[in-house]
Amino acid sequence: MRIVACSDGELYRWRSMATVLIPGSFDPLHLGHVDVVDQAVELFGEVVVGVLVNFDKPSGMFTPDQRVQLAEASLAGRSTVTVKAFGGLAVQAAADVGADFMVKGLRTAADYDIEQQMAHMNRSVTGVRTVFVPCRPEFGFVSSRFIREIATRGESVEHLVPAPVAAALADRFADAHERG
Ligand code: PNS
Repeated sequence: MRIVACSDGELYRWRSMATVLIPGSFDPLHLGHVDVVDQAVELFGEVVVGVLVNFDKPSGMFTPDQRVQLAEASLAGRSTVTVKAFGGLAVQAAADVGADFMVKGLRTAADYDIEQQMAHMNRSVTGVRTVFVPCRPEFGFVSSRFIREIATRGESVEHLVPAPVAAALADRFADAHERG
């Protein structure tokens, strides 16, 4: 049981009842993701951050292990959050961890268009429901793709990512930064 403050200042009791899976590529995790994880902890209690990868054809900037390590370091101190890599489908990962729901953050209407189709598809396959949470507006423009594109060319994105991710990007792209 936890006490939650409402926006009008009232306090109410909320019992966390659910385990949720937050699936994604997390290549890399950014502050918008951290916000969605924190919202999911507040709403549901137990959160599994599922790093979805194709183990047969690994692609992306960080390896699956690095993504998991960076997400773990970035989410450290949250006792009900775990991070795990999964191959295969998000619905299979949800079943593996016994998730009651999947949670997805929505930044824009464009996200909704894609996500609602995936949500319906996933529900039709295993019955698992997806709950959408709105991202905080200050992170509404942040995406892992843009983080990769900018960091690769040596510009700092440290205001958009957790410290462990900023350090990993700085290490990796120090040369590009020096070249300007
Ligand atoms: O961080 P991303 O890239 O927006 O995450 C997208 C992801 C990994 C959540 C989505 O592509 C996904 O669920 N992939 C796993 C494969 C899958 O379940 N496909 C069927 C979707 S209906």
